[in-house]
Amino acid sequence: MDSLVVLVLCLSCLLLLSLWRQRSGRGKLPPGPTPLPVIGNILQIDIKDVSKSLTNLSKVYGPVFTLYFGLERMVVLHGYEAVKEALIDLGEEFSGRGHFPLADRANRGFGIIFSNGKRWKEIRRFSLMTLRNFGMGKRSIEDRVQEEARCLVEELRKTKDHVTREYLASGHSGNDPITPLGSMNQMICNNFPPFLDYFPGAHNKLLKNIAFVKSYILEKVKEHQESMDMNNPRDFIDCFLIKMEKEKHNQQSEFTIENLENTAVDLFTAGTETTSTTLRYALLLLLKHPEVTAKVQEEIERVIGRNRSPCMQDRSHMPYTDAVVHEVQRYIDLLPTNLPHAVTCDVKFRNYLIPKGTTILISLSSVLHDNKEFPNPEMFDPRHFLDEGGNFKKSNYFMPFSAGKRICVGEGLARMELFLFLTSILQNFNLKSLVDPKDLDTTPVLNGLASVPPFYQLCFIPV
Ligand code: HEM
Ligand SMILES: *[C@@H]1O[C@H](CO)[C@@H](O)[C@H](O)[C@H]1NC(C)=O
Repeated sequence: MDSLVVLVLCLSCLLLLSLWRQRSGRGKLPPGPTPLPVIGNILQIDIKDVSKSLTNLSKVYGPVFTLYFGLERMVVLHGYEAVKEALIDLGEEFSGRGHFPLADRANRGFGIIFSNGKRWKEIRRFSLMTLRNFGMGKRSIEDRVQEEARCLVEELRKTKDHVTREYLASGHSGNDPITPLGSMNQMICNNFPPFLDYFPGAHNKLLKNIAFVKSYILEKVKEHQESMDMNNPRDFIDCFLIKMEKEKHNQQSEFTIENLENTAVDLFTAGTETTSTTLRYALLLLLKHPEVTAKVQEEIERVIGRNRSPCMQDRSHMPYTDAVVHEVQRYIDLLPTNLPHAVTCDVKFRNYLIPKGTTILISLSSVLHDNKEFPNPEMFDPRHFLDEGGNFKKSNYFMPFSAGKRICVGEGLARMELFLFLTSILQNFNLKSLVDPKDLDTTPVLNGLASVPPFYQLCFIPV
């Protein structure tokens, strides 16, 4: 009896508390569906297709609206105008990183992806500078990506005319030749949606995966410490260790071992599964659209030929191929709702007041699938990035890497990888589907918040 009374009391307190939290400060917040106590607007959202749910809600509440995921308040930005106004025009204010479930348990206030404030600024600036010094977007890293592309082609050659199986699960391990960067199990980008709290089963798996990547990185850091030459940094980890040494008397320094470990994990995880999933999806789309593949191969033949490896300079002479790579990224919409942001202070936005710390959910999907900028946005059509003369046509709506101050740190590297891997593959192989291309399904399988390609099979036939 007593415990029942306590239970009832507790429940009513929780209810009141949640009502109070939802009411307070609601005056000037953007409009939105009325939240239920405790669960908020969960019933109005299809967890399997959050992006589509947001689009549906935006039809009722407009491009800026408020949603409650349980007790957590989020402001949603939908459509190019709102996204651009926030991420670009008010870049500083919208540059915070929103709350990730599990982030605390995985010790992730460190590093770059999950950090905020001074820490994030310093680590991000350092990471960008270091990656650039190693030639991201320049020659030296290009050599390495070319080397990787050659290895990939050799691996694919070994498959002879056997079928290369494509796996739905990003987590499958083994020597999958399509994930040349190493398929680490279930990378953050598919698995850190703010909604993860509603998939209890995924928790342990995710924590285990983070622990695995982390132990690998820890080992690497140790190896680096033992073999390092202060005057000849070999890579990112060496540069960070040197910076740590320089700042060792500064108590406030952000260049600590925790930040090194977590930044390395961040770069590694953010950089692998994103690129490999895009590549796997690109191959599926090329299988589905043989006429597109033929045009890319014609361009490769004309600009590069057979006797040398593709390089980045070729891209400016290959508008069709460039358009195809852009269209792949637009069409697949890898991270439909981006990673969560937060506002770093109280922000006045379109006559609303968004309180400091509010999570901001950004629909990149609504920008990439804008039907004025990209007529028939649900169709895969490289003409979305070509003018009438067949020249490459740039679009401000091309935001698969997001925009503003949090924009993907690896954009240059990722675009280099996609171009060099795809052209190297198509220079060396024809793609053959086991079923009629018309029967290939290219609808994404939504994996939490990321779009991954459905299972398919593919033969690489040497040209
Ligand atoms: C096709 C490949 C890729 C796509 C589509 C992609 C997309 C994204 C997106 C949408 C974000 C979130 C931006 C935001 O919060 O507004 C992001 C963040 C990030 N990406 Fe990528 N990415 C890719 C490849 C890479 C690569 C190769 C690297 C590593 C070199 C990388 C490193 C990062 C890091 C460190 C962040 C966090 C930035 C921050 O919070 O300040 N990404 N990426
Ligand atoms: C969005 O709205 C359409 C049309 O009303 C409906 O068929 C669909 O199920 C909705 N999708 C989601 C994910 O809410």
